[in-house]
Amino acid sequence: MWYWLCVMWAASLWAADPSYTKDIVPVLQKNCVGCHQGSMKSAGLDLTSYESFKRGGKQGDGFAQTIRYITGEAKPSMPLGQPLLKAEVVDVFKAWVKLGAPDDSPKLETKLTPTKYSLSPVITALRWSPDGKHLAVSGNGEVLVHKMEGSEFRLDKRLLGKSERILSIAWSQEGKMLVAGGGTPARFGEVQWWDMTSGQMLRSAELPNDTVFGASLSPDGTKVAVGCADNTVHAFETATGKELYKIGSHENWVLGTVFSANGKRLVSVGRDRAAKIMDANLGQFLENANTSQKSELNAVARHPGKDLIVMGGEDRYPYVYSLDRTRNMRVGDDAMFVQRLDRQEGVILALDWSPDAKLIAVAGAAPKVNLYEAESGKAVTSCVGHEAGIYALAFSPNSKILAAGGFDGKVRIYKTSDCSLVTSFVPVPLEPGSGGGQ
Ligand code: HEC
Repeated sequence: MWYWLCVMWAASLWAADPSYTKDIVPVLQKNCVGCHQGSMKSAGLDLTSYESFKRGGKQGDGFAQTIRYITGEAKPSMPLGQPLLKAEVVDVFKAWVKLGAPDDSPKLETKLTPTKYSLSPVITALRWSPDGKHLAVSGNGEVLVHKMEGSEFRLDKRLLGKSERILSIAWSQEGKMLVAGGGTPARFGEVQWWDMTSGQMLRSAELPNDTVFGASLSPDGTKVAVGCADNTVHAFETATGKELYKIGSHENWVLGTVFSANGKRLVSVGRDRAAKIMDANLGQFLENANTSQKSELNAVARHPGKDLIVMGGEDRYPYVYSLDRTRNMRVGDDAMFVQRLDRQEGVILALDWSPDAKLIAVAGAAPKVNLYEAESGKAVTSCVGHEAGIYALAFSPNSKILAAGGFDGKVRIYKTSDCSLVTSFVPVPLEPGSGGGQ
């Protein structure tokens, strides 16, 4: 009889599939989260959300590792310093993981609603896909991807995320993935990874307090670096969204980042006027590129193939620096300085280096884009038409056209040969009857 009772009891246990919310979360809360949560993430493991549990700690794969640690297979067994959980409880964990660890936790934002625009919002980021067929533009709470058809642009995808502001965009080299950096001011910062075939978000990584600036993708696409308002540079792993390291060598906000051509080094610029060179794998500060900068730096861009950068900000001069000592000089000399371009009519906010390496584009508070011959530093031409400041610039992959956007909310496309306007458009769908835009 006891045998049958046991069987029936066991059957009742297995009658329903184990649930993350009902069976797993209460156990984690009682036995684990004390040591595995936001402010105390033992072994880097945060057990307070499904996503962070899944991601795991130092060794990754939180589900598999948890099974190893709660069965005592891995030492020290968990919960640390306590007897093992009851065998039945361990079995529920095992069964749940075996089922594929279904997530039945209540979702706060299951559906994000697209912004309804009555005015075209300020454009803070734009970037061409590597094949030059798509242009991704920042909107409110989204990235709008336009398809170029002749000289027309048609809205193709809307990438809706949690962040209110998108301040930087990068595409992977084959164009399969897009990275957007931003956040909601004074609340949180976010890096989003998007699959560009499906238009689905692959993952996101959040940082507390404030938006992130100047997100850049390493040339091999494996890392994303961002600048932060707490004077740090953070780097994340594309494959997992996990934070790789943070570097706190700046003394003020970090506004721009760029990787070296081989991806081994990382440069960041910011309000402390410094351009810092770091080891991109170890996350360690190596040296300052500049020593003579007298003003805040807002933007940085790299030569397409060499370790030369152009940066600029408050003092309105674009500066070209090498990431290596060009001259054998004493410490303290500005040994990596290459050249300075003309003073702009306003603060510099956006820079780009053409993919054919020939041109540097500079824009900012003054409503025009100035083009320079990268080699000689000679001014070539200016693209006009913007009604106010320009915050984002991007050369097309074949270097023939240039997209610019800013305060007036219109994307303008120019020919780089003579700065003639190819077209201009409002990148967001405007509500019928609204007066904004055209
Ligand atoms: C008293 C604090 C404490 C409690 C309670 C605790 N842990 Fe841990 N946990 C740790 C520490 C410390 C480590 C790092 C152990 C080491 O490698 O030396 C760790 C490591 C782990 C790891 C390995 C993560 C990795 O990737 O290296 C897992 C998985 C884990 N804990 C799961 C749990 C689970 C599940 C519970 C609850 C059943 C739990 N822990 C309870 C402190 C705790």
